[in-house]
Amino acid sequence: MEFKYKDSDPVRLSPDRDEIIALDQTKLPNRVEYLHISTLQEMYDAIKSLAVRGAPCIGVFAGYCMALLSKKHCTLDKDDFLSKLKEDGKHLDSSRPTAVNLSWAIKRQLTLADKCIHSGQNPENTTERLYSEALEIHEEDIRMCMCIAEHGLSLLHDGDGILTHCNAGALATTRYGTGLGPILLGRERGYNFHVYSDETRPLLQGARLTAFELVNAGVDETVVCDNMASLLMKQGRIQAVLVGCDRIAANGDTANKIGTSGAAIIAKHYGVPFYVLGPYSTIDMNTPTGDDIEIELRDPDEIGSMWYKEPMAPKGAKFFNPAFDVTDHSLITAIITEKGVLKPPFEKSIAQAMKGR
Ligand code: MRU
Repeated sequence: MEFKYKDSDPVRLSPDRDEIIALDQTKLPNRVEYLHISTLQEMYDAIKSLAVRGAPCIGVFAGYCMALLSKKHCTLDKDDFLSKLKEDGKHLDSSRPTAVNLSWAIKRQLTLADKCIHSGQNPENTTERLYSEALEIHEEDIRMCMCIAEHGLSLLHDGDGILTHCNAGALATTRYGTGLGPILLGRERGYNFHVYSDETRPLLQGARLTAFELVNAGVDETVVCDNMASLLMKQGRIQAVLVGCDRIAANGDTANKIGTSGAAIIAKHYGVPFYVLGPYSTIDMNTPTGDDIEIELRDPDEIGSMWYKEPMAPKGAKFFNPAFDVTDHSLITAIITEKGVLKPPFEKSIAQAMKGR
């Protein structure tokens, strides 16, 4: 089944601008199906169910959601319009707590709406501005991915073995992705990487989504279980680990898919560089350290029964299902952003990079 990372967007606006057309990532890799989303409840469910997922992609989606919601409320008077939009934004923001891109995009749209209304524009004009801003967020994401891919590729070598965790590709962003960007760009330029994709329990984003993207792009790739990274590194098969991120704290601690920090600890042990790739919109200066990041807890069924014909644990067994963990900044070799490569000490390099933003 084809997926063209260069011109496929997992989320986009319908031509009449009344719906968001979103690739339903819960159906991959076996079916390519699109959702047509227009109500607040559908927006919330798409994020919660992971039909729309990956931090930057959630940000792009949220930008469009706010434009559509603005259109729904644009016949109200100015005060009611603003308060309804804020209420909807708050509800949407509660769909998932960890990726900062969701609240970042909602806040960006709400700040714009506030500014438009307070400078004398009516709700209709304000809605137009929100549509333009949503398209701009999308365009920025496409540009951002390309820059991250270039910066990341400059750190890799032909023939490298690369370990990935979860999915930080074109499905999780728009176009090249973050963590997969350098691999896809390298492939276009004739690099021969061998990629090992952690399957990424419990929701298998590595096996279902990363492998799907890499196989489609003709990259030499192998799916491994999450507990195999240590063996691969001991055998010298991995020269770099590339992962995406959901929130980077001001000191460089990074939240990403559960299991990421384990891969980082193993990489440190074997002296393998561990790279985090993500845009400035994922850096949260209001979060001082990883301890301040809220970790999403998900349905226990995702572990014990969701993928199996019969439950894979006895009745009465308990499950603990945190969707993310935090990789300590001391384990990260570099953070690769659209503006360049940030090196330790991250407290300093991040503060410098974020100055004036
Ligand atoms: O729960 P998910 O599938 O949304 O988790 C996604 C990840 O952890 C990604 O690595 C992260 O969002 C970065 S995507 C470029």
